[in-house]
Amino acid sequence: MSLQAPRGTRDILAPDSARLRALVEAFASAAELAGYGQVVSPMFELIEVFRRVGEATDIVSKEMYQFRDPGDRHLALRPELTASLARAFVQHRPTLPWKAWYEGPQFRYEKPQAGRFRQFNQVGAELFGSDDPQADVEVIALAWRFCTGLGLRKLRLAVNSLGDRADREAYLAALAAYFEGRSAELSAQGRETLGRNPLRLLDSKRPEDRAVVASAPVIDDYWSEAAAAHFGAVLAGLEALGIPFERNQRLVRGLDYYRRTAFELASDALDGAQDAVGGGGRYDGLVADLGGPDTPGVGFALGVDRLLLACDAEGVFPAPSGAADVFVVDVTGGGEATLLAEELRRTGVRVQRAFDGRSMKAQMKAADRSGARWALLVGDDELADGVVSLRRMRGHEATASGESIQRQIPRAAVAAEVARLVAGSTGDGSTQ
Ligand code: HAM
Repeated sequence: MSLQAPRGTRDILAPDSARLRALVEAFASAAELAGYGQVVSPMFELIEVFRRVGEATDIVSKEMYQFRDPGDRHLALRPELTASLARAFVQHRPTLPWKAWYEGPQFRYEKPQAGRFRQFNQVGAELFGSDDPQADVEVIALAWRFCTGLGLRKLRLAVNSLGDRADREAYLAALAAYFEGRSAELSAQGRETLGRNPLRLLDSKRPEDRAVVASAPVIDDYWSEAAAAHFGAVLAGLEALGIPFERNQRLVRGLDYYRRTAFELASDALDGAQDAVGGGGRYDGLVADLGGPDTPGVGFALGVDRLLLACDAEGVFPAPSGAADVFVVDVTGGGEATLLAEELRRTGVRVQRAFDGRSMKAQMKAADRSGARWALLVGDDELADGVVSLRRMRGHEATASGESIQRQIPRAAVAAEVARLVAGSTGDGSTQ
């Protein structure tokens, strides 16, 4: 069999790649508008960086791509970027608050299916150095504004608070005791999850587990006063901004570092199993766990691949047009096309051309396919007369201007004339 991309990975070709880039650019604008600066960090880290975020999570214990480099360092491809950013924070000690955004591929050895890959892309933002509930509101608002700005409407925002470290530990103990008392009713996988991390049972999708989960203790009863007040302020902030949310007492998230606020954005346009387009929350102990000063933090990441699937399902955020402005059809050998294409590209015009001395008919067909508005035709007659024929392509005929479909222009005037046409084009084929 011929070689294929590794399972769970894929090649993203044009125009999908242009759409992905446009989405990242839109995120960059939204994040920078809110004062976040980009951080570009390594694709791999010393494995301890991720181990410290929690051995109890599948992402760390089962799904990491790990390897030893020739210098015998134990490394892992990043499964997420929050830990990397916390490590970068400890290393560089930027002034507070430190507001960072990022984008790029993450790697998790998961079972691939629709919307779930082993290499996938995220965009995200983190705010280090504030435990103000308004900081939580700011990051949630950024995620919400960006996703709705793409045109997505079928979004659901679920929020919860996991309490402070001690609240969470007390809750975990109560949950473990409760589930152990009813372990015979759990699914076999549910019992296995219970042994590793009882919190994860709360979002089990298996019916046997769900029946037991329905009467499990709820986190609200374990919140400290401070954690309860913090969460109240976050919810009030969301309400003040008119951001719709639902409270989900069972939302626990798949990473161990969360304290207090946790949230998830899901799309009703996606298949239920993989409908989370993003998630985040507060991770006040993480920087200290990585050896830094006790510094709170809050942030989120969005799954770019899933966001784009949701955009497909809702028919929004189309790929930017990759159409050329001009297609040069040269039937004199191709050298003229090289000169013309280069001259025009130097002025910023998008130019396509054919190779291999193809016939006039074949080149015109290629010009049609390219989506170009104009063709520049060079034949033996044009070459001899020092002119080029400029032709409007089908579907881009002049409407009001009354210009003829084809006319000749002096070779020396081509660049200026094409620049004039491209600058004046309205996008619907007519010129102003
Ligand atoms: P996460 O929930 O693990 O959080 O991932 C965020 C999003 O990445 C998910 O909601 C999903 O859209 C996407 N995603 C995750 N795994 C896959 C996959 N295998 N294939 C496709 N998409 C996937 C985090 O990563 C945290 N670092 C978020 C965060 C930032 N919390 C605080 N700050």
